[in-house]
Amino acid sequence: MIFNINKWYNKKKRLEQLENHVSATRTANFGFTPYAESDKLKRVNRHFDTIATRYDLMNTILSAGIHYIWKKKAVKTLMIKPENRVLDVCGGTGDMACLSASITGEKGISVVYDINRKMIRQGEKKSLKGVTFVQGDAECISFPDESFDAISIGFGIRNLTHLETGFKEIFRVLKKEGSMCCLEFSKPDNSFFRFLYDFYSFRLMPLIGGLITGSKEAYTAFPESIRAFPLPGELSLILQKIGFKDIKIKKLTNGIAVIHSARK
Ligand SMILES: C[S@@+](CC[C@H](N)C(=O)[O-])C[C@H]1O[C@@H](n2cnc3c(N)ncnc32)[C@H](O)[C@@H]1O
Repeated sequence: MIFNINKWYNKKKRLEQLENHVSATRTANFGFTPYAESDKLKRVNRHFDTIATRYDLMNTILSAGIHYIWKKKAVKTLMIKPENRVLDVCGGTGDMACLSASITGEKGISVVYDINRKMIRQGEKKSLKGVTFVQGDAECISFPDESFDAISIGFGIRNLTHLETGFKEIFRVLKKEGSMCCLEFSKPDNSFFRFLYDFYSFRLMPLIGGLITGSKEAYTAFPESIRAFPLPGELSLILQKIGFKDIKIKKLTNGIAVIHSARK
């Protein structure tokens, strides 16, 4: 059915994406498809291998350029100062790290930390001033405790097999009083807007994605993963349990994207 497009998970199913359930069932979803816990990372890597060369172009087309505004707003919440050390976890092709580097300057550090070699390669091609790329797993960050003044994660946490582990790692490598922001997709508030967004996500996005990247599948799993992800209140509780304080939620574009900002 062309209008059968309301696929948002209920609370029970959303919470099944969290670590307790993943570890208990040894199963982790990518989109709506369950994989063995140990296979999800391979699936995620395959996804980004497929789309890496067209990733930036697709973001700009699919969001009509709005993703740059969202990223700017997210980085602004970090209140970065010149000479700060800033980490962008799941940083992909470096958009957010580039924004941070424009503030940290020559004496500061802005690092993209990402597991996918092809995404990093695309970022390196952009020759972003002041940005360093490091390959590694967000669930086991290869930096010592308390090494960064500020940490961002944009549209990345949704991809991890163990979401809480990812946030715990961010907490560990963040300095005391350091700032963190998580930019992620979510559920629009207005029901009519949500209907239009659902139609766009499940009817148009896979077509556009298929045409430009050659993978309709990649752009089907992408909107699915958004529908399965915890809502802002649920994510705030997770951050609170990990130890983050001053947690603030900022909804963007009717809640399509949400910034969680917090401090250690
Ligand atoms: C949707 S992209 C976001 C990229 C960038 N932050 C942005 O906003 O444009 C998600 C990124 O997370 C990375 N990623 C997924 N799982 C990861 C993991 N376990 N560790 C590190 N990076 C991971 C992917 O390789 C991909 O580059």
